[in-house]
Amino acid sequence: MCGIVGYIGENQAAPILLDGLSKLEYRGYDSAGIAVFNDYNLEVAKAKGRLSVLAEKTDNGCGVRGSMGIGHTRWATHGEPSDVNSHPHLSMSGRFAVVHNGIIENYISLKKELSGKGFEFISETDTEVIAHLFEYYYNGDIMDAMIKVINRVEGSYALGVLCSEYPDQFIAVRKSSPMIVGLGDNENFIASDVTAILKYTRDIYYLDDNEVVVLKKDSVKVFNKDKEEVIKEKFTVDWDVSAAEKGGYEHFMMKEIEEQPKALRDTISPRIKDGKIVLDDISLTTKDIKNINKIYIVACGSAYHTGVVGKYVIEKMCRIPVEVQVASEFRYCDPIINNNDLVIVISQSGETADTLAALKEAKNHGARILSIVNVVGSAIANASDDVIYTWAGPEIAVATTKAYSTQLAVIYLIAAYMAEKLGMLTSGEYAKFIEEIESLPDKVEEILKSKEEVQYLASKFFNCHSIFFIGRNLDYAVSMEGSLKLKEISYIHSEAYAAGELKHGTISLIEDGTLVIALATGQELFDKTVSNVKEVKARGAVVMGITTEKHENMEDVADYIVKIPATHEMLLPSLTVIPLQLFGYYVASLKGCDIDKPRNLAKSVTVE
Ligand code: F6R
Repeated sequence: MCGIVGYIGENQAAPILLDGLSKLEYRGYDSAGIAVFNDYNLEVAKAKGRLSVLAEKTDNGCGVRGSMGIGHTRWATHGEPSDVNSHPHLSMSGRFAVVHNGIIENYISLKKELSGKGFEFISETDTEVIAHLFEYYYNGDIMDAMIKVINRVEGSYALGVLCSEYPDQFIAVRKSSPMIVGLGDNENFIASDVTAILKYTRDIYYLDDNEVVVLKKDSVKVFNKDKEEVIKEKFTVDWDVSAAEKGGYEHFMMKEIEEQPKALRDTISPRIKDGKIVLDDISLTTKDIKNINKIYIVACGSAYHTGVVGKYVIEKMCRIPVEVQVASEFRYCDPIINNNDLVIVISQSGETADTLAALKEAKNHGARILSIVNVVGSAIANASDDVIYTWAGPEIAVATTKAYSTQLAVIYLIAAYMAEKLGMLTSGEYAKFIEEIESLPDKVEEILKSKEEVQYLASKFFNCHSIFFIGRNLDYAVSMEGSLKLKEISYIHSEAYAAGELKHGTISLIEDGTLVIALATGQELFDKTVSNVKEVKARGAVVMGITTEKHENMEDVADYIVKIPATHEMLLPSLTVIPLQLFGYYVASLKGCDIDKPRNLAKSVTVE
């Protein structure tokens, strides 16, 4: 949601801003705009719709001249997608141009106050109050104005601000919304994430909340709210440009599905040393682990589905009670937490508003926060006591694949790490588990080699109106993810059900030809799931079974079978999910859907 890019240097800003914004398209948006200082004033171009409309309007940026500018892709929250509501917003005199990602929660009272002082508003956005506040507080010193503005606004913001009286610099700040600073050679940048500027530099600063950055062509200075300079550590991003490009694939989603073996290796290998799981990243001691009373796992969407797997795995291996909650519910359910509870927060982007708010809620109750995050330096990572990063690399497709898989891997590592510390595993069991975790990337690779089988099945079913996924225990947890993957990108209605629950109502929806995808990979409950498959078959369902190479009885009941390699029971979700990701992808592709950017969705959901 909303993407920001800013540039100052020796080159023309507008083409660089448009290029950077194109790398942020995946975040989701419905309008775009740029503001450039053209030697005299701030020139703004905005357009509703795709970035290509703005590119056309500005002759690919060539029509807006100047070497300092800010750009924005807007995902509408306050006010419909329209030219006037798009960013950048100008202050009344045109002296300030502002781009904003986040939500200003007290904008209504600020708007009233500013209206009373004669400021006129032309948009419905919360952002316009910021432009006017700059004007109101400006006394010739832009830094002063910035501090006053951030002292007045409540909520979340990443802001890029141009002032026509400062032709050689622009200023930016962030709080609870993402923004990084890119350090180039005689050029500097701000961006919502590194993918936007990777082509120009890999050296970056992460900003903490309310750090204000002043960017000139040849210098970058960061200040705290007391206007004291803060010396920042420079990070060099080790992804190259190709990590954020399609590299010959038709869609990012397929590229990312194929990248899963590597992402898993990168996430798992550095954390296994001499046959032991080493979680250097976290400060939880054995004593802390023994004192854990209860674990909460809090997340949204697919990350929540990782949590559902986590509940089964951690409870089984560690015998600690685990409660999984969607973040948007957790924060409002007055959770019963105390300081002996561990809250595991899972997020690819590290900036999901509900997840971040849930984290803060848990922290207020004194819980310790361990987060599993993909984006280094993100708000959720920064707010946690401990972070374990998933080394999945940039994930561009809206539908997550490699981030989900690496989150699962981290859950397994945490579960086995804690189980070992709690004395719940014999040394043989521990060694076997580690060996199986290490073999996951190869097994995923093996499944991907026969992806055409899944493509064939997709070609048989892409016209379905409704598809059910069923499974028990871990298979149920993966069913949820399979169902979400399918529906979000193919727009086919789909539901995931615990296999034993169908007959309590949902089975009435099964009729001749309804496709049921039945996951039966676990040994213990295999026969029970097979019985449920028979129940739906008896009502006319067509069944696609997903099972392991160990199980043969599935052939007798299912119409189609997809087999995955065998592994430790707890690790099966990592393998089961792969054919389901492929199925969703191929169905959406056959339907001609916009796979990487499904309708109505944004990659990072920074609003409640
Ligand atoms: C679905 C998907 C979403 C995200 C959810 C949480 O494919 O990607 O359901 O999992 O929006 O996002 P993060 O993990 O960034 O907090």
